[in-house]
Amino acid sequence: MKSTAVLFGAVSLVLSSVAMADLELAKKSGCLACHSVEKKVVGPAWKDVAAKYKGQADVKATLIEKVKKGGKGNWTEVTGGAPMPPYSPRVADADIAKLIDFVMGL
Ligand code: HEC
Repeated sequence: MKSTAVLFGAVSLVLSSVAMADLELAKKSGCLACHSVEKKVVGPAWKDVAAKYKGQADVKATLIEKVKKGGKGNWTEVTGGAPMPPYSPRVADADIAKLIDFVMGL
């Protein structure tokens, strides 16, 4: 019993440190100037992004493209029409994919 609890503790610790690493990457990449997980800043809250596209298997590639090239129009009612800036090649493709996985997993 006790070891099960310890195991759960260790697993959630690992999970939260993964999330911390992703947030650190988001911060380093400049995303957190306009986004937060919970609240709209300039861009939509990342939890809302995850909710909007939940269950759409093919959306990951679209979102990766959006972060690479920038764009607007999907969140106009939330942002008032502010654009998402282009991030490629400022942020490496592999890091952009990681960030999208993180956002979609929220
Ligand atoms: C200068 C402000 C700004 C920065 C910096 C920024 N974003 Fe955005 N982001 C936005 C805005 C505004 C939108 C809404 C665009 C729209 O209406 O389609 C957005 C939308 C998004 C979306 C949803 C796209 C969609 O089409 O639904 C994702 C995912 C996203 N951003 C991820 C990121 C990531 C990852 C970074 C860092 C690499 C980042 N953003 C940096 C402003 C920003």
